[in-house]
Amino acid sequence: MELLRIEGLKKTIRKRNILNGISLTVSTGEIVGFLGPNGAGKTTTIKMILGLFSITEGKITVCGHDVVEEFEQAMLNVGGIVENPDLYKRLTGRENLEYFSSMYPDVSPNAIDEVVSLVKMSDRINDKVKTYSLGMCQRVGIAQALLHKPRLLVLDEPTNGLDPIGIKELRDLLKMLSKEAGVGVFISSHLLSEMELMCDRIIIIDNGFMIGEKTIVQTHRVEEDIYNYTFLTSDDARTLEFFKAMETNCQMENDGVSLIMKRSEIPAIIKGLINEDIDIYAVNQKQRTLEQDFISMTTGSKTQIQ
Ligand SMILES: Nc1ncnc2c1ncn2[C@@H]1O[C@H](COP(=O)(O)OP(=O)(O)O)[C@@H](O)[C@H]1O
Ligand SMILES: [Mg+2]
Repeated sequence: MELLRIEGLKKTIRKRNILNGISLTVSTGEIVGFLGPNGAGKTTTIKMILGLFSITEGKITVCGHDVVEEFEQAMLNVGGIVENPDLYKRLTGRENLEYFSSMYPDVSPNAIDEVVSLVKMSDRINDKVKTYSLGMCQRVGIAQALLHKPRLLVLDEPTNGLDPIGIKELRDLLKMLSKEAGVGVFISSHLLSEMELMCDRIIIIDNGFMIGEKTIVQTHRVEEDIYNYTFLTSDDARTLEFFKAMETNCQMENDGVSLIMKRSEIPAIIKGLINEDIDIYAVNQKQRTLEQDFISMTTGSKTQIQ
């Protein structure tokens, strides 16, 4: 089921075009990434989805309800965090959730305990927010966004400032919500690597233009998958020659010799190098097709891609 539909969305602020016609959809159980460098227009788009910003041109519907014409119906189906979760630091997590639940018409009494357990905050929910880590604040923020059981969750750069463990926990939580509860997730980020691990699909935006869309096939760990490998050996020049002789897609790089190859072929290649008396110090596997696409698609924003 289609949860979010954006059609030809434009935003002009003081005669400046911030968004130039964004169109996308998010369906049940899907995690869709909204990737772009700082200033691309991610927050602007998300604010418009949540009814926090007026629409210059175009249309946004949430579960079929127009966010302008049927604002309340639309908002009942969406929960979100823009920039940072807005929590009262001197209150406990639970008190924050109680306060927010009073803003919705009918949040069931069990809803708080349910969302708290969903985001794995049951142990700490009665502590004051000022004692929470940023990751915990994000989790309470997501709990807050889920209180009214929306079908669509919209998160604006929720991993900003999180450490790698916090990012993994957030990723696992979002995957669980989408795959088990069927929630549709629309999540923005300027970090490609994060989006690749989390999303089913990535929409790339730059300067208010949609410049690409990629379906992420969760291919890893399938025998026939093609990866980009980097070989670090005692003789990189001969390694490159050896690869070229096999008519493979290879090249010399700063950190070794790179080779694009089916995973199942790699053991034979390693044996071949050993037979050539080349010592292998390391073979790294990376998947970087999307990153290359992203860099070639976006303009002047390479420094923000990590
Ligand atoms: N309220 C505003 N007034 C004027 N310009 C704005 C406003 N909000 C955002 N912008 C501009 O719109 C562009 C997109 O911003 P934003 O949506 O915050 O990007 P992102 O979230 O992708 O980093 C930026 O150039 C920003 O300066
Ligand atoms: Mg932003």
